Amino acid sequence: MSCGHDPADSFLVSGMKRKIRIAPSILSADFAHFASELKVLENSGADWVHVDVMDGHFVPNLTFGPPVIKMLRQHSKLPFDVHLMIEKPENWLDAYKDAGADRLLFHIEACAHSHRYLTRVRELGMASGITLNPQTPLTEIEYVLDQCDQVLLMSVNPGFGGQKFIESTIEKISRLRQMIDQRGLSTVIEVDGGVSMQNAQRIVEAGADVLVMGSAFFSAEDKKGLVENVQNL
Ligand code: DX5
Ligand code: ZN
Repeated sequence: MSCGHDPADSFLVSGMKRKIRIAPSILSADFAHFASELKVLENSGADWVHVDVMDGHFVPNLTFGPPVIKMLRQHSKLPFDVHLMIEKPENWLDAYKDAGADRLLFHIEACAHSHRYLTRVRELGMASGITLNPQTPLTEIEYVLDQCDQVLLMSVNPGFGGQKFIESTIEKISRLRQMIDQRGLSTVIEVDGGVSMQNAQRIVEAGADVLVMGSAFFSAEDKKGLVENVQNL
């Protein structure tokens, strides 16, 4: 049922303009009604489903794991963008593939051998992604960037939805954009935490390709309108 990941070059429209995507986070959905919430998400025209996995150790909150994601998979055809906020992500890569993840992101702060695990994620047929907490410098990923299909920059301290966007992320996005462009890579930049229509334009201008929205998406009355506005940025 999993539908594979987009080729990275589909982010470029006529070689110039980047295609902007929105990935609503189901962390802000009603956990007792996931199936209908996924329908709402799909009907809005959103691009990906952002799935936040928390283990109560790496972050001070707990959500769900592979069995729940496997069941959610039955209710959506959209790509699953799975954000692992867990310790020892290397022990779980195969399990998340089996559960139906299309794109798998783990935190660089959670593992010592990120190069090996990024390679493994690609071998499993998923888009590989690394995530950086707000305090983690971009130099941490300098030597693994070519192994990343995606880099997720946290713009809040991970663990909860509805937090305030950390402004220093804007400069970090621009610098990551430069690193990627200078190397001629097609790595996708995703930004997660406190993103709304108030700051979306600035985030995209800085160089982001994909915006995660949790509370801003699920609290919006006109979700279709919100999605269109993001996609047209
Ligand atoms: C935070 C999660 C985010 C969260 C975003 O740890 O990784 O994906 O759901 O929620 P908002 O958009 O409400 O900040
Ligand atoms: Zn997330």
